[in-house]
Amino acid sequence: MIISIDGPAGSGKSTVAEILSKKLGFIHFNSGSLYRAVTVYLKHIDYDFNSITPDSITQNFDIKFDYKNGEMIVFVNKFNCTTHLRDNDISILSAKVSVNKHIREIIDRCQHNFAASHNLIIDGRDIGSHVFPDAEYKFYLDCSLEERAKRRLKEEQLKNNKVDLNEIILQIAERDEIDKHKKYAPLVVPKGAIIIDSSTLSIEEVVNEMLQHIKM
Ligand code: DC
Repeated sequence: MIISIDGPAGSGKSTVAEILSKKLGFIHFNSGSLYRAVTVYLKHIDYDFNSITPDSITQNFDIKFDYKNGEMIVFVNKFNCTTHLRDNDISILSAKVSVNKHIREIIDRCQHNFAASHNLIIDGRDIGSHVFPDAEYKFYLDCSLEERAKRRLKEEQLKNNKVDLNEIILQIAERDEIDKHKKYAPLVVPKGAIIIDSSTLSIEEVVNEMLQHIKM
């Protein structure tokens, strides 16, 4: 069974997917991690990110992933990308990389192969709309830009990082712009998806609302 959760950056998809996966005994597949992994690899080989367009890259990437203590570990062309997946610069760079059609096709294949033998809660930007349009349950988790930025600010402050709310708003808005307007598989509300706006909801409330829809 596939349960998809799509939505913009910082809407809480991964947190919610992780909790749901534990409650339902599914694997949480974070599709963004694969885009991030390819980005980490491209940075490792000094790729010129400014040269990436929807149709520029055509080379193949061998993506291998596994789970260790519940964490996804990802190798691209045998290079272990795992520890850099959440690096700050990888967020915006991975949005730029994700516009490329060829990379999207490679990652689509990884997802289809894995889903053939696993029950997945999979979060991303194009899961219910493009990768698994026939998923049993499709959710779209929305959230206002201001609320997403405030949440990110809190996370950074907890890590003692000095950050500015306006700067975070600009960064998230830039990612939204790329995610929603890319040529191939842009972020849209999937047909038939249940839309939940988490702007004024707690994580627990979002999880509970999703659980009300899921019949096993
Ligand atoms: O969810 P995330 O922030 O880890 O994703 C990183 C980038 O990967 C995001 O900006 C867009 C891209 N992405 C995508 O294009 N399609 C997906 N299904 C998941 C992520």
